[in-house]
Amino acid sequence: MPAKIIDGKKISDQIKTEIKASIEKDFLPKNVRPGLAAVIVGDDPASQVYVSSKRKACEYVGVHSDVFNFPSDISEMELISVIEKLNHDDKFHGILVQQPLPPHIDQKRINLVIDPNKDVDGFHPINFGKLLAGDECFVPCTPAGIIELLKRHKIETVGKHVVVLGRSNIVGKPIAALLIQKSPNANSTVTICHSATKNIGEFSRSADILIAAIGQPEFVTANMVSENCVVIDVGINRIEDPSAEKKYRLVGDVKYDEVSKKVEFITPVPGGVGPMTIAMLLKNTLIAASKFYNINLNA
Ligand SMILES: NC(=O)c1ccc[n+]([C@@H]2O[C@H](COP(=O)([O-])OP(=O)(O)OC[C@H]3O[C@@H](n4cnc5c(N)ncnc54)[C@H](OP(=O)(O)O)[C@@H]3O)[C@@H](O)[C@H]2O)c1
Repeated sequence: MPAKIIDGKKISDQIKTEIKASIEKDFLPKNVRPGLAAVIVGDDPASQVYVSSKRKACEYVGVHSDVFNFPSDISEMELISVIEKLNHDDKFHGILVQQPLPPHIDQKRINLVIDPNKDVDGFHPINFGKLLAGDECFVPCTPAGIIELLKRHKIETVGKHVVVLGRSNIVGKPIAALLIQKSPNANSTVTICHSATKNIGEFSRSADILIAAIGQPEFVTANMVSENCVVIDVGINRIEDPSAEKKYRLVGDVKYDEVSKKVEFITPVPGGVGPMTIAMLLKNTLIAASKFYNINLNA
């Protein structure tokens, strides 16, 4: 039987509608709205595309957003002073610094400068530490989106074996840290695999939930998964395709055509995890603004 598709586009649209409604009900009557500052350094085309779709999503839900563009030769000190100004600007409740940054700028140093209360990407070590400790914090958007996809599809995680491929700070480690917590929508047994893991297939075949975040096109094949598996494909990879208009197409880390014929649930690429990342960025911005204005979102 073909897998059931986890439609990230549809769920992200639902979340955006919920955020829009909350802004109209909780913020606008008080004459305030959440604000997001996006900082972008250099002219990397992919970064420009990401920031522009984040901006469009902000506009749709009613989040005020400004994009701050800087040339790739901006110094680290200049960038730090830009972020410090944004930390003190009450129009913005969330700040994101689009990655990648040029090599002369230390990403970790930049993460440290963002006010943890405005750190809607969840990269500041204070938020990272709280995440591991199971405390309330800003959760990085892609892992938060994965949890939301599982939750809204009522996919059980308690007691399940989750295998995460990849251990990056933005996906692999935080999704593992979320799923090991003793809490609903988590409480899983988690295995993390990476480039030094031997026989990845042995781990992935024993997964109830497989989360692939390695950036290797179509790495996960049908013989690496079991029939009842839920497959979450985080990868976004461009591969050459002379027949496509742009001469490339996007594929995930999972060989979708064959794996989707075998497993129980699967996320497509595009249209799976990707749209959720933006929706969760808006959600984090809404939460940051609600704290700033002392607004109870559940009232
Ligand atoms: N959907 C979204 O919104 C979204 C968001 C973020 C990222 N992504 C995509 O997700 C993918 C991963 O992103 P990332 O930022 O986490 O990547 P990353 O920082 O490059 O990390 C990749 C991880 O995968 C591991 N890895 C690489 N090749 C491997 C292999 N052959 N076998 C086992 N492990 C391997 C690496 O191991 P080592 O640690 O040993 O090097 C590393 O831990 C990319 O395709 C990216 O574009 C999508």
